[in-house]
Amino acid sequence: MGGPHVPDKVREMLSRYRYMREHEPVSQDQATGRWQVFRYVDAMAVATDASRFSNDLSEFIPDHEDLRTFSKGNFQNMDAPRHRELRGLVSQGFTPKFVAGMAPRIETVAGELLDAARDRDRIDLVTDFAQVLPIVVIAEVMGLPVADRALFRSWADALLVDNGIDAIFSEEGVAAMAPSIREMNAYLLAHVRAYRTSRREGLISDLVAAETDGKRLDDQEIVGFLALLLIAGHLTTSTLLGNAVLCLDEHPDITRQVRADPGLLPNMIEEVLRYRSPLFWLDRRARRTVQLGGCEIPAGSQVSVALVSVSRDEDAFEDPDTFDPRRAQIRHLAFGMGVHFCLGAPLARLEVRIALQALFDRYRDFSVPSDQPIVYHDPHGFQGAKRLPLDLVAA
Ligand code: HEM
Repeated sequence: MGGPHVPDKVREMLSRYRYMREHEPVSQDQATGRWQVFRYVDAMAVATDASRFSNDLSEFIPDHEDLRTFSKGNFQNMDAPRHRELRGLVSQGFTPKFVAGMAPRIETVAGELLDAARDRDRIDLVTDFAQVLPIVVIAEVMGLPVADRALFRSWADALLVDNGIDAIFSEEGVAAMAPSIREMNAYLLAHVRAYRTSRREGLISDLVAAETDGKRLDDQEIVGFLALLLIAGHLTTSTLLGNAVLCLDEHPDITRQVRADPGLLPNMIEEVLRYRSPLFWLDRRARRTVQLGGCEIPAGSQVSVALVSVSRDEDAFEDPDTFDPRRAQIRHLAFGMGVHFCLGAPLARLEVRIALQALFDRYRDFSVPSDQPIVYHDPHGFQGAKRLPLDLVAA
């Protein structure tokens, strides 16, 4: 059920999920009351059927002033029509052309980070490279000072890692996150206001100017959206890059093939997303009583798709426990599906492809050493490494 870099906890989960797919594909978790979804077919229904499943989880989240401000432009937590309006406005600034135009800059940043490690034959792939690249890129995309990247990192950690991925659903968790959220709101608001008065370049300027049907975004909405990008955009991408390196390390034959034919990289990245989905859960709320996988889910229930199970579903993927970068049509759910499909997917794919290519170009070989442990995230939040030692052999 996976190669040598699968932590025991994940191995146990994968084998439990195989059982659940077969015997209890939809089941209520007794500890949390949530309905968990383990099969691909049911997961697709949850992710794409907005008439039955809502993205508005505010009922499960304790009310808190700082969180309210932050939630205002966070359209990932909204349903139509507001979701469509805000996503539409934001997409005007975040176009495929804009993302593609980032490639030369991402190459430069990746090169600079690896230059900084020029004299070392061992780095920590995550802290020296994978984690820094997306923060620098997202800061530049937005037009925020790259020098503040440690701050951005600390906010993402406070929201997603330090207090556990479920912190948002408890009073204590929200209280623990509140100071970071307050700091982030104030920081972003100051930048948005500065952009209103001086017309500098960057996504913030585009958002300030964006208009649909005569409607513009107000400052708090822009703050909420920037916060969403800052938080959603880098831990996920760095985890994906780390996961790609773990997969390559487990499969030297595949590494050789991809080095010889870099055209394989995009499909390989999709297979990494399937095989090691960075995010574990995708959450919704049942709008009304729904039938799913032979169960009746009461209206108002929290419904959680186990992405890690879905991507190993034997009915959706042939030989799902095999990592196969030549697999055709990898319709994974790691970026979600439907109207909330990840807005940053093209950027994440681009960054990871450029980062892997930079590693191939600079190093004849790289491998995970056996004398220093990999430190993994709590797999209930992120699937992947937060510390990943890597030995390098220069080209
Ligand atoms: C490997 C990296 C990434 C993964 C695995 C990932 C995963 C996801 C998933 C699963 C969703 C869907 C949530 C839902 O259906 O409720 C999502 C939405 C979103 N992601 Fe990503 N993401 C990644 C990178 C990024 C990046 C780089 C950005 C921005 C720079 C970003 C911005 C967003 C936004 C704005 C949404 C909300 C879309 C909406 O609700 O309409 N993501 N992401």
